[in-house]
Amino acid sequence: MKLLVTGGAGFIGSNFIHLVLAERPGWEVVNLDKLTYAGNLANLKHVEGDRRYTFVKADICDAKAVAEAAAGCDVIVNFAAETHVDRSIMEPMAFLRTDMEGTFVLLETVREGTVGKLLQVSTDEVYGSILEGAANEGFPLRPSSPYAASKAGADLLCLSYWTTYRTPVVITRGANNIGPYQYPEKVVPLFATNALDGMPLPMYGDGMQVRDYTHVEDHCRGILLALDKGEPGEVYNIGAGNEMPNIEMARLLLVELGKPESLIEHVKDRPGHDRRYALDSSRLRGLGWEPRYDATKALAATVRWYAENRWWWEPIKSGELYRAYYRRQYEER
Ligand code: NAD
Ligand code: TYD
Repeated sequence: MKLLVTGGAGFIGSNFIHLVLAERPGWEVVNLDKLTYAGNLANLKHVEGDRRYTFVKADICDAKAVAEAAAGCDVIVNFAAETHVDRSIMEPMAFLRTDMEGTFVLLETVREGTVGKLLQVSTDEVYGSILEGAANEGFPLRPSSPYAASKAGADLLCLSYWTTYRTPVVITRGANNIGPYQYPEKVVPLFATNALDGMPLPMYGDGMQVRDYTHVEDHCRGILLALDKGEPGEVYNIGAGNEMPNIEMARLLLVELGKPESLIEHVKDRPGHDRRYALDSSRLRGLGWEPRYDATKALAATVRWYAENRWWWEPIKSGELYRAYYRRQYEER
């Protein structure tokens, strides 16, 4: 089996590559990544020397580069995307381009070439805010942010390719992931690294927004299972059910690091902020998926990783690119 993993230098993609190389000895991985601000080859330094792994720097919107990288591959697993809701509110264009047009290029690559399948990694955010109960795969798509709307558009395009051309595509929709190598703009690594430096944790609004903080390893195992056993044209939700309001997540994180609760600072809310996400993942559980991390274990393991791996995040947070973003996002809040 040879995989073309797109966006493999990001958070979830790099964790997925680690998992595949560790648990599937006969498999090869080609990682195609544009290396945007969120792509970081340091995430993969432990597999650099592995002969089953190769890296190609390219954009998924570049059909020629994708076709070249895909030659000889059995499947494409697409992680490449612009992923941060706050950035999509500031500048939506890049989201439309990568998340929708990029997915279109991958679908065309599968439709026209010899690759057997596309696994499209999507998100629970396509369902919008779920105030009660949990969304199953048949729920309507009601995305709130330009990020979520771009991902929903890509999902619909994938399903249309199955309906129209029988292009084999499997979609997974994951909950909020936490774990190693997550760019410190997302809430858990942002709060953990700020706390480690004694800086305030900017809590949007009242902090009562609920997220299902699923460990990235559980998410990646779910994606691997959907790749092995998922039906073409089907969608599989992947959420551990680790529901928690942000304020509680922040308190637990601070206790874990031995830092004071006074670091929490309530700031202006995010526009269009989804109050709650919740997934019904019984379809994937029916294939044998079972999360290994509950909320407390996922959060504790994640926070510990950031405490022990300053080498990874300090260069990011001290760089001008990150600092400019931080000022723009938080200075006026
Ligand atoms: P990330 O932002 O950490 O990484 C994205 C990666 O894609 C980066 O390496 C970046 O360089 C690359 N990339 C961006 N544009 C590209 C392009 N045009 N061509 C090639 N590469 C490009 O994102 P992540 O958190 O690892 O998310 C991966 C996927 O999982 C995304 O599709 C996202 O929508 C989905 N997802 C994320 C979460 C989450 O909690 N982070 C939850 C569910 C689903
Ligand atoms: P985030 O990690 O951006 O993921 P998403 O918006 O995709 O769920 O945010 C997770 C939650 O944390 C969300 O409810 C917004 C909140 N949040 C804050 O309170 N402060 C912050 O600085 C950030 C980035 C997020």
